[in-house]
Amino acid sequence: MPATILIGAQWGDEGKGRVADWLAAESDVVARYAGGDNAGHTIYVQGQVYKLHLIPSGILHSHVTCILGNGMVINPINLMKEIQSLQQAGVTVNPDNLQVSARAHLITPGHVALDAAAEADRGADKIGTTLRGIGPAYMDKTGRSGIRAGTMLDVEVYAQELEHHLLCVNEGLKSRGASIDVEQQGAASVAAAHFLRPYIKDTSRTLNEKLRAGARILCEGAQGTFLDVDHGDYPFVTSSSPTVGGALTGLGIGALSVDRVIGVAKAFSTRVGAGPMPTEMDEALSSRLRGTGENFWDEFGTTTRRPRRCGWLDLVTLRYATMINGFSELVLTKLDVLSGFESLQLATAYRIDDTEVDHIPVSTFEMLRAQPIYETVPGWSEAIDAVRTWSDLPQAAQHYIDRISTLVGVPIRTVSVGPERDQLVHR
Ligand code: GDP
Ligand code: IMO
Ligand code: MG
Repeated sequence: MPATILIGAQWGDEGKGRVADWLAAESDVVARYAGGDNAGHTIYVQGQVYKLHLIPSGILHSHVTCILGNGMVINPINLMKEIQSLQQAGVTVNPDNLQVSARAHLITPGHVALDAAAEADRGADKIGTTLRGIGPAYMDKTGRSGIRAGTMLDVEVYAQELEHHLLCVNEGLKSRGASIDVEQQGAASVAAAHFLRPYIKDTSRTLNEKLRAGARILCEGAQGTFLDVDHGDYPFVTSSSPTVGGALTGLGIGALSVDRVIGVAKAFSTRVGAGPMPTEMDEALSSRLRGTGENFWDEFGTTTRRPRRCGWLDLVTLRYATMINGFSELVLTKLDVLSGFESLQLATAYRIDDTEVDHIPVSTFEMLRAQPIYETVPGWSEAIDAVRTWSDLPQAAQHYIDRISTLVGVPIRTVSVGPERDQLVHR
C-alpha cells in the first residue's frame, strides 16, 4: 500500500520539510493535510534555501504532484505570493503540479485581525500564536460559517461572502477601535481568487485515483504532535490535527492505503510559543543550541523569527507521540548540533509533585509542573556534518541513537547531520 504519513513528533520544527524533501524524491504525490501558513518548512538544495509555508515540500521535485488538502486553512493572498515567489526562483509551479482542495477553508484578513485580538485579550496567558489567523479560521470551519476555497470558483459569490464576513468581523472589532478596510482587503482577496481558480480541484478524488493507479503518496505533516488540538498541551496548541488521523480526514484517503507512519524528531527539543516543556534548558545552553556565527543553527521560527526555546530530548513525549501515531520508524534530525557536548541528557520520566511518572499527564497544568528525570549518556567531540555512513558516526553518537530507539521502542534508520539535501545517514 503506497501512502506514507510524515508527522512531527514534538512541538513542530523537527525538520519535517527536509525529510519530506528527501522522501519526495521517491513519491509521486506530496500532500499537506493540516494547518496553514503557521508552518514554515526549510529546505536547502545546494546552498539555495527555500522556506515553504503552504506549498508541500515536494514542489522542489519536478515529477511530483503537490496537493493542499481539505484539512488545511489557506490564506489565498499568501498562497498566491508563495506560488509567485517560487516561480521567480525558477521552480515550476502551475495547475498541473499543484492542486488546492475546494474543501479547504480560507483564512481572511478578518481571521488575522481576530487572532491578534484574541492574543491581546489573553494578556500574560497568551498562547504565542503565529498570528496567521489559524484559530479563528478553524473556529469558523467548525462553526459552519467559514468560506471554502471552492467558493473562489465563482468570484462574484466569493466577493459577496467575503464582504459579509468582513463586515461581521468589523462589528466585533468596533469596541477595540479597530477595523478592516473592507473594500481594499476585498479587492486584494478577489485578485488572489482570480489567480488561484485554476488550481482548485476535488483533491480527494485526485488522491484516490492516483492511489488506485499505484502512485506513491507522501502526506506531509505540519506542526507537531504536542501542538495537536486533541493530543497536545491544550490550550497551548494549534487548532488542527497534525497527528495521524488528521492526515486521513485532511486528505480524504482511507486508513488501509497507509503502510508507513514516520515520526520526525529533532535530536533535542525545541518549542516556539508558550506551554509546557519539561526539559527546557537555561538561556546559556539554549543559545548554544541556537548557535552563533559559522555555527548558527537557526533555531528561530521560520514564520515568526521568534527564538525557539531549547531543551534536552524528552523521551516521555516521544513515547507518547509514538503511541498515538503508531510510528513505524523515527527519523532523527540535527544530530550535528549536539557535537561538542561532553555528555547529553535524555529525559526518561518526570517527577510531578513528588511522584515519578513515565507518561504524559492528562492535565496540562500537571505537565507544567513536570520535572525531568534524566539518564546521562556520553557525548562526542567531533563534527559529524560530513559523515554519510552509519559506521563513520562516532561510537557515542551511535549509542545516543540506539538508546533513543530502545527507550522509545521504535527503529531509527535515518538521521540528518546538516540541513543540506545530502546530509543524511541511512543505517
Ligand atoms: P519543519 O517545520 O519541521 O520543517 O522544520 P523547520 O524547517 O521549521 O526547522 C528545522 C530547521 O533545522 C531548519 O532551519 C532546517 O534547515 C534545519 N535542519 C534540518 N535538519 C537539520 C540537520 O540535520 N542539521 C542542521 N544543522 N540543521 C537542520
Ligand atoms: P511547522 O510546520 C512550530 C505554534 C505556535 C503557537 C501554537 C499556536 O513549521 O512545524 P497558531 O498560529 O497555530 O495558532 O499557534 O502553535 N506553531 C508552531 N510551532 N512549528 C510550527 O509549524 C507551528 N505552527 C504553529 O508557535 O505556540
Ligand atoms: Mg517549521
